[in-house]
Amino acid sequence: MSEFGNEANPAELTETVEEKRPKFGNRFLTDDNDVFKHNAWDNVEWDADQEQEALAAVTKNSTQKMKAEDKEKFQNDADKFWDSFYGVHQNRFFKDRHWLFTEFTELAAPSVDEVQEPRSIFELGCGVGNTILPILKYSQEPNLKVYGCDFSARAIEILRENKEYDPKRCEVFVMDATLEDWSVPFAENSLDIIVLIFVLSAIEPTKMNRVAANCFRYLRPGGLVLFRDYGRYDMAQLRFKSGKCLEDNFYVRGDGTMVYFFTQEEVRDLFCKAGFVEEQSVVDRRLQVNRGRMLKMYRVWIQTKLRKPLKEEAKK
Ligand SMILES: C[S@@+](CC[C@H](N)C(=O)[O-])C[C@H]1O[C@@H](n2cnc3c(N)ncnc32)[C@H](O)[C@@H]1O
Repeated sequence: MSEFGNEANPAELTETVEEKRPKFGNRFLTDDNDVFKHNAWDNVEWDADQEQEALAAVTKNSTQKMKAEDKEKFQNDADKFWDSFYGVHQNRFFKDRHWLFTEFTELAAPSVDEVQEPRSIFELGCGVGNTILPILKYSQEPNLKVYGCDFSARAIEILRENKEYDPKRCEVFVMDATLEDWSVPFAENSLDIIVLIFVLSAIEPTKMNRVAANCFRYLRPGGLVLFRDYGRYDMAQLRFKSGKCLEDNFYVRGDGTMVYFFTQEEVRDLFCKAGFVEEQSVVDRRLQVNRGRMLKMYRVWIQTKLRKPLKEEAKK
């Protein structure tokens, strides 16, 4: 599916368009009668009724929260649930995301005319490499170093075995990103870019600020966090059944993996408290359509760029 909706029936979720669409998409639905003419529509507006319906669905599925003892199992063994996920799906589940380079132009190599200092990119929660591998494949930068970590040992193993994994330009390792102290092969204040693609949503909300603080610590002044994740009222959130809610907007899927649904403000607050300055924040709303089954699926993603200020700016 596009964007990790393993909580839903993957057959219902169209994937291909997400991969190819240009920046923020450009197919707009102007006549409701046309809705089943294409697989997806960009920048769909939500009216007050739709917002209300979404709120009602979320209230319904989250009023009753999971008991503490049941919740602990998912939180304490989160890495094991992801290990099982990768044991089942190997590297077949998430597609390589070529849209990355249109949404996050910073990931593409600087032009040859620009002076090229060696750059370093670190992906947290890199899984089996659906972000890292396209970066390695398409980057022309001679000195680019790409790092990745995941707390699923199995994911890292699968990634290392991929024939596109190039150990000369890339180093991946097992690490829980929520640890207070990261054990990493690079220095503090050194990274150019940290990529967070659908990973923060898998982390308990109370631990998210630690992740943001460590991102700040390891980025160089002027470095960037590139963030894309689930937005509030995404179809995946509305579909949860009652009994799956751990905390407000935080749920457990059938396979034991957890997922949070963000607002723009929450992402901004989290990172700005850690010292970042928000440079871009977009709510990407798409309507995906299953034409065969006449299904309409409203997807919501948050995309944000956050910069660690240069020293002089930080002092102001
Ligand atoms: C939805 S997947 C996204 C994978 C990858 N970012 C991509 O773009 O394909 C979320 C990933 O985050 C990892 N993850 C979740 N919590 C983590 C944590 N506390 N530390 C490290 N990795 C974590 C999971 O194992 C999983 O591989």
